[in-house]
Amino acid sequence: MAEKAKIAILISGRGSNMAALVYAAKSPDCPFEIVLVASNNHDAPGLTLARAEGIATCAHPHKGRSREAHDAVMHEAIVEAGAEYVILAGYMRILSDGFVKKWSDHMLNIHPSLLPKYKGLDTYQRAIEAGDSFAGCSVHLVTAELDDGPVLAQTEVAILPDDDADSLASRILIAEHQLYPRALAQYVTREFDPDWILEQVRNRALALEETHERASFGAPGWRVGSETTGKYFAYFSQSHLGEAGIALLVKTTGLDEQAALIDADPERYYAPKFYGKSGWIAIRLDQGRTDWEHIAEWLFKSWCQVAPKRLTRLIAIADQF
Ligand code: GAR
Repeated sequence: MAEKAKIAILISGRGSNMAALVYAAKSPDCPFEIVLVASNNHDAPGLTLARAEGIATCAHPHKGRSREAHDAVMHEAIVEAGAEYVILAGYMRILSDGFVKKWSDHMLNIHPSLLPKYKGLDTYQRAIEAGDSFAGCSVHLVTAELDDGPVLAQTEVAILPDDDADSLASRILIAEHQLYPRALAQYVTREFDPDWILEQVRNRALALEETHERASFGAPGWRVGSETTGKYFAYFSQSHLGEAGIALLVKTTGLDEQAALIDADPERYYAPKFYGKSGWIAIRLDQGRTDWEHIAEWLFKSWCQVAPKRLTRLIAIADQF
């Protein structure tokens, strides 16, 4: 199994979601480990539990500090603990833009509603008053807007005829405890999920000029040019035609470049058998910590190799400026 993702959990109070994450992390096959539980409140009951479970904790009260200064202290503690992800679990503080930016795509929150419905407070009462038949909870990425980032996972919870805010909240909390560890596990292992990897390649391939997707021998592929005369510049290989693992196939400038790449990094590059001595190179995408900027550059270089002159000419002209 790949190295476990290192998680810092931020709490303000009870910490029952934190406890759910702590117990989930005890399973040997859980893909995350908790390296810190931090709070803005010395007396947060969750801290006592975390300590008893042998987890490092810290508390930095926000009183007397500006939002930015407080976030900076929290950030420092999180980095020092070696965390790669920040997990908000009942952390009742608005975060500064700077902090959100630093943890962009690496900070998750749980919210007791089916977002985008009922951001903010009193979510249960608002769902009941609206006459909804379902309430629920959402795990989402944290962005600058409150409770607004992309939703990663949700659980619906039926509203019963005699529910009040408290009875509904207690059932939603059960759903939260199930949802958060599962959503977090999925998120930190996304780099190994074939569907997620394919989506990353697809978005970057289709962002290039005049491209479309067409399967080739059952594998997704991307072509540049028209539907009739277009040429392939990339293929996605998922254990395709007997090759191991997941890889992107792109066109190098020729056999010399292909050989040099394999020589320099034989773990990541290989010559795809099916394409013989044509200069195509396979780049493994299932080893974690893929540099997606680099993959986008490869797609572009390969696109340049086969794109019609009228398209590449424009790029050559732009390059002169
Ligand atoms: C949870 O219900 C969580 O969804 C909510 O606070 C509670 C914390 O409970 N969070 C928010 O409302 C964030 N907007 P816990 O401390 O027992 O995990």
